[in-house]
Amino acid sequence: MESLPLISATMVSSAPAKDVTPEPNSNTIEWHSRRCTWGGPMSLHRVLCMQGGDDDGSYAKNSDATASAITLSKPLLLNAIRSMKLFLTSKHDDSLRVADLGCATGYNTLATVNMVVEGLRKRYAEELGFEPEFEAFFSDLPSNDFNYLFRMLSGVVSADCRQRYFAAGVPGSFYHRLFPRAKLHVAVSLSALHWLSQIPEEVTDKSSPAWNKGRAWIDGAKEEVVEAYARRSEEDLDNFLRCRKEEIVEGGVLFMLMGGRPSSQQPCDQLGDPDSRDKHPFTTSMDRAWQDLLDEGLIDEETRDGFNIPAYMRSMEEVERAMAKCGGFEIQRMEYRRIREHSEEKQEEWARDPASYGLSKANLVRATLGPIVEAHLGRSLSHELFDRFRRRVSAELGLLAKTRFYGVIVVCAIRK
Ligand SMILES: C[S@@+](CC[C@H](N)C(=O)[O-])C[C@H]1O[C@@H](n2cnc3c(N)ncnc32)[C@H](O)[C@@H]1O
Repeated sequence: MESLPLISATMVSSAPAKDVTPEPNSNTIEWHSRRCTWGGPMSLHRVLCMQGGDDDGSYAKNSDATASAITLSKPLLLNAIRSMKLFLTSKHDDSLRVADLGCATGYNTLATVNMVVEGLRKRYAEELGFEPEFEAFFSDLPSNDFNYLFRMLSGVVSADCRQRYFAAGVPGSFYHRLFPRAKLHVAVSLSALHWLSQIPEEVTDKSSPAWNKGRAWIDGAKEEVVEAYARRSEEDLDNFLRCRKEEIVEGGVLFMLMGGRPSSQQPCDQLGDPDSRDKHPFTTSMDRAWQDLLDEGLIDEETRDGFNIPAYMRSMEEVERAMAKCGGFEIQRMEYRRIREHSEEKQEEWARDPASYGLSKANLVRATLGPIVEAHLGRSLSHELFDRFRRRVSAELGLLAKTRFYGVIVVCAIRK
């Protein structure tokens, strides 16, 4: 079959995040107090995305950890593909439709869909003697760098990226409907569902017991803060599943991999062991970097306290409960796994060069949080924040010796 990159132009909507570059020499409290931040339900969707493009701070260059998650999930996903119902009986039948929800832009984006399409193509060729046509839908929030993704798909970035399917971009939140009823045969969502649809309002409300003062995330936060995140997470997963229940055809596969925790771990213990907690980019070093900006008079307290990271690591139990509540899916497999942050060799290399470790971690966190930090602080102060983060991480030699793991929950379910 020839390469068939077909990009749905009508769906291309990669509106760049609003330019919030401050005027020169204006990163002061006076300047900042005039800026708007992204609060409120819909606005997070307008700014949340991974850093686009392919420079050192881009997601495309900082997705090793999520690539490990894909490697880990590959056997499970292929297993699901091998055992799934064969929907078509001849090459004149309709196409097979695959969607990647929260696809981002980078190597992983294509690797996941390629894996599914290749798996199915092989099965049809071997078992039924023909190759069906495939449609692949790459879906993410509108702020995702779809332009770069489309260049990859059409082989502009590299000829190796030419694909054997018709491709389309679908901008929108996976917490809403994205496709017509019974449209999809396979839906995958990798390393994306731990991102919440919004920050719970009470977390930024000074008068609420759930006000998350002095922290960027929920690790070590008050019970009320964690509970507010847990409620948001529950509602989000319910919405996600209800939408996919409509969109996936009977017998189709829903494959999800998300940041998670084992059921034995309470929601306040999002990250497990103390080393993993200390080293996680959303915790200590991040809070210190915010405090540095505050101490240096670059931001005020309100600005610091107004920023929260919209992520939540669910437990297996929470996911299972949501699946049972939604109904319509049969869980084929659900597992919790721990992934090592990086190899031993890399750790030794960094121990010899802490500055490069700091830079690498700052790039990683900028690739993930850059767009939302920039929307909150403006470009110049955002740069300052990630620079303080880099310095903090480079100076924390003790952290380097520690090994961090992150937990993921993998679920493979069949639409009943
Ligand atoms: C860490 S990246 C993972 C990307 C890719 N699946 C991978 O495995 O490398 C998470 C992606 O989820 C997307 N995302 C977060 N919340 C989303 C939502 N509500 N709807 C759609 N995509 C979302 C982000 O924009 C980001 O591109």
